Amino acid sequence: MRDYRRELANEPCWDARAQRLFDIHGEVLDDIILQNREELIALCGFIEAYDIRSYLEIGTWTGRLVRTLHRLFRFEKVAACDDGYARRFGLSITLPREAAYLEAPSGSSAFESWRAGLGHLDLVLIDANHAYHAVKRDFEINRRYPHRFLAFHDIAGTTPQTRGVRRFWAELHEGSRIEIVHPHRELGLETTTMGIGIWSRSSGTLRPGRVAIVRK
Ligand SMILES: C[S@@+](CC[C@H](N)C(=O)[O-])C[C@H]1O[C@@H](n2cnc3c(N)ncnc32)[C@H](O)[C@@H]1O
Repeated sequence: MRDYRRELANEPCWDARAQRLFDIHGEVLDDIILQNREELIALCGFIEAYDIRSYLEIGTWTGRLVRTLHRLFRFEKVAACDDGYARRFGLSITLPREAAYLEAPSGSSAFESWRAGLGHLDLVLIDANHAYHAVKRDFEINRRYPHRFLAFHDIAGTTPQTRGVRRFWAELHEGSRIEIVHPHRELGLETTTMGIGIWSRSSGTLRPGRVAIVRK
C-alpha cells in the first residue's frame, strides 16, 4: 500500500482554520479538500485495494478533491458534476484537463443524459446536497447507471446540514457496504465529523478487512 499520508501531506483538508472559516461565513471560503484527512487517506487505500480506474464526483466545491485523486491515481476516466456554487464566492472551479464536467443540478435531466454518456464508472462519490431527499434521489438516479461502487460523504451526519445523509445511510440495508470512519484529528477530535460510506449492490463484494475501516 502506498503512503497516502505522505502523498497528501501538502493538500489542505478540513482543519481548524477551515472550521473557523465555516463558523464565520457558513462556508469554507477556500480551495481546499472538504474532507477529514484520516478518512481521505483510507479512501485512497480503498481506491488502491479495489483498483478503481474511473471516478465521478458529484458535488466538487472548487474541484480540489477531484484534482488530488486524479493526481494520485491517473484515472482512465474522471468526471465531475457541480452546481458552480463556489464561484459565487469568487473562487474558481479547477478540474483536471481530462475531466468531463457538468455544471448542473445532480437531480436534473441534464445530469441523467450526461451520466448515461459516461458509461461504466468504478466509483461515484455523492457529496452534493446533503438533505435526506436529495441524497436518496442522487442514490436512486446513480444506481441506474453502470458502476461498481457508490460512496456517500458525511454519513456520520453530525450537523443539521448533514443529518439527512446519516438517515439515508441507516436505511440502506440492501447489498454490501463499508464505512470509513476515523477521528477528525486535524480538529483535535476523537470522533469523526464526516464519515464515508461505500456501497455495492451485490452482497459480499465489500470486505472491510481490505482497507483501514473502523466500523462495518
Ligand atoms: C461539500 S461540497 C463538495 C466537497 C468536495 N466533494 C470535497 O470533498 O472537497 C458540496 C458541493 O456540492 C454542490 N452542490 C450542492 N447541491 C448540488 C446539486 N444538487 N447538484 C450539484 N451540485 C450540488 C455545492 O454547491 C458544493 O460545491
